[in-house]
Order: sequence, then C-alpha cells, then structure tokens
Amino acid sequence: MSGLAKSATLAINERSRDLLAQGKQVVRLGLGQSPFPVPSVMERALQLNAHQKAYLAVQGLAELREAVSRYIERTEGLHYSSDQVLIGPGTKELLFHLQMACDAELLLPSPSWVSYAPQARILGRDMQWLSSPADKPDLDPEMLDRYCRQEPARARLLILNYPNNPTGSTLDPDRLETIARVAREHHVMILSDEIYSGLHFDNQHVSIARYYPEGTIISNGISKWAGAGGWRLGAFIFPETLEPVLRNMIALASESFTSVSAPVQYAAIHAFNDNPELRDYLENCRRLVKALMLWSWETLESAGARGTRPRGGFYLMPHMEPLREKLNIQNSQALCEYLLENTGVAALPGTAFGRAPDELSCRLACVDFDGAAALAAVRELPAGSEPGEAFLAQYCQPTFDGIRRIAAIFQD
Ligand SMILES: Cc1ncc(COP(=O)(O)O)c(C=O)c1O
Repeated sequence: MSGLAKSATLAINERSRDLLAQGKQVVRLGLGQSPFPVPSVMERALQLNAHQKAYLAVQGLAELREAVSRYIERTEGLHYSSDQVLIGPGTKELLFHLQMACDAELLLPSPSWVSYAPQARILGRDMQWLSSPADKPDLDPEMLDRYCRQEPARARLLILNYPNNPTGSTLDPDRLETIARVAREHHVMILSDEIYSGLHFDNQHVSIARYYPEGTIISNGISKWAGAGGWRLGAFIFPETLEPVLRNMIALASESFTSVSAPVQYAAIHAFNDNPELRDYLENCRRLVKALMLWSWETLESAGARGTRPRGGFYLMPHMEPLREKLNIQNSQALCEYLLENTGVAALPGTAFGRAPDELSCRLACVDFDGAAALAAVRELPAGSEPGEAFLAQYCQPTFDGIRRIAAIFQD
C-alpha cells in the first residue's frame, strides 16, 4: 500500500468543498456520477422489496442473473446462461476481485478510468500502459500486438472501456474485430467494461464479446445508464471457457462481500428486463446527454481545445495546449488548479487517467445540473426534436456556464 495516493477524484472534491465553504461558486465537473434519477420502475420495486432481509446466494439472485443474461441476448445477440453471470456490489469491486483471482499482467490503454491501475498496484500486479496519441485515444491493435510479442507466454488481462471514461469515445466494430484477433493470437483475456453502453448517443453499442466470446468477460451495471451508482450493483458475464475464473471469484466473494443487498437485487431486475418505462427513460437520457455533450465539445473545440469528439457517456477530455504559452501552464495538475481558481470549474487532471504529466489535458464530467428537471423537460419536447442551446442554457446549469467559462479562457 505504501506510496498509494488519495484518489485524484476525492482530492479535487475536497478542494471544491473548501471553496464552497468560503462562499465561492464551484461547478462540479470532477466527480462523474449520473445526474438523472433512478427510473421509477426500479424505485417502486426497491420499496416493495424492503422486506427482503435474507442473505442471497453469493453469485447473485437467480432471477436477476436470468434478467442479465436475457439483456445481453437482447442487446448483443449473445447467449449466456444465468450460471455464467456474477452479481457484485458495483463493478469496481468486481474488477478488484477479478485482479485478485487471476495472476496476470494488466494492460491498460492510456487514457483509462482512474481505478484500474491503483487496484493493480494494491495487489502487487504488474501493469503496462499502452499510450495513444492525444488525437487518437483508442487502443491501437498494432501496439498491443508488438507488446505481447515481447514475452509471448505471459498471462495478460486487457481492460477495454467503451463508451469511454474519460474521453467519451467508443470503439467501432471493425476496431473491436482487429483487437479481438490480436487478443486471440496472444491468449490475452479481455475485461470489457461496458458500464456506459446504455448511454451510447445513438444507441449503437457493440460488445467485443461478439468477436472474441471465448476470451471476454463483459462488465456492466446500473450505476450509469440507470442512475443508481449509490445502490452498488454490477454484473460480470463470463464465457464457459473462463469458468475457473468465475469459480475463483465466487469463492473470493463468499469470504468478502457475501452478496449484494437483497432489496437492491430484486429492484435491479427491472433495469435489465425490457419494459416501456425503462425504454422511454433511456431514450430521453440519451437525447439530453447527446445534445449537451456535443454542444460542450463544439464550444470547447471552436475556442481552441483539441481531442476527441464524444460519442457516449458524460465525459470529455479536452487538450488545452494553446494555454501553455498564454498562461505559462506546464502540466495537467496546474491546468486544473488554474481552472478551479479562475473559472470555478472543478475538473480532473489527465495524469489521473494515465496521461503524461506535461500533457495539458483534463477530464470534464458534464453532470452538474438538475437531471430530474432536465429529463422531465426533454420529455415535453416534440418527438424527433433535439434540445438546442437555449434548452441547455435553461436546464443544464451550472454545467452550461462552466463550459462557456472554460472556452472564454482561450479568448481572453
Ligand atoms: C469506466 C468505469 N468503470 C467502472 C466504474 C465503477 O462503477 P460501479 O462500481 O459503480 O459499477 C466506473 C465509475 O465511475 C467507471 O467510470
């Protein structure tokens, strides 16, 4: 554990709290949690199941595992039995248990979500960043191939996350197919983190499990597209070939978390089952998120930021190179401090996601607004029409202002 720093996300949150305590305004684009309420079909089910007080099976409630396997069948056309599903208290905990259960070198595209690398460090696992250029954040299959050739016999775990936190980009089927070919050749196990699948702007998410079913574990949950991060529930879906890993994880779970809270498991069935209320919820969340994220990206890009146009989820990772000379900012930590002090926007530095310290990148989580009110207003828009700038200015405050203030720094 020595040398393990406090998570960058929490540190920026504490600094924001200090500023708020001094009476200053802070736009919280640091911590990435869904702004939207939990769908009411799930809330009702949670209330109705408050009496469920018994410990449930370690692997998870059979009905919920059944619903998860049907969900994957419906969305990906892939068949898994409910015995191939494991339910845990959030995918973060399952990811940690997966690294505990397999002694493998961890391969991470850079940038990647903040917690994968620290989990490897805590467990003493070796890890390797596979860094992409700033303008092409997706994993380059040739880089993966070159790296694996160096020590062909080594056991390896690659974590892919798409739609991506922090960039908002996603992997297209042809890229997934090429990565799958390389992974198969080198026997690399893939953990496919698809927690933002339901927030692909055009509802076009495709899993790499379609191309590499035997080597892929799918990770998904209710934290992001069902707004229920605090409920703590996630699911892993294993291929038959990786049954020994599933068995190890169940054994670990039986000695650690035992099982996820019973009422939450009963309620989560309604997130994975097809029902009109959930479909309407997801459609309108996507409509709003797409409009807000594309407006935010275009505003920053026309001001001078560079990076990737988002295609899903709540995040952007702008690169702000023009500010290096203009403001004499030399690294991403200093960039975030400047943003917080001068625009009141809390953001996370690119270093937290595995980027080089001297790269002027940061992650913006565009989630600081009243999601319930915004969602209700989107539902009132005529079918087929998208929320425009005036709508975003009215319903997506303070995020809307925060993005404008960042854009203004380039022009001042
Ligand atoms: C990419 C990614 N994976 C996994 C998680 C963990 O989600 P949870 O533990 O709530 O399922 C998060 C949460 O921020 C995330 O952004």
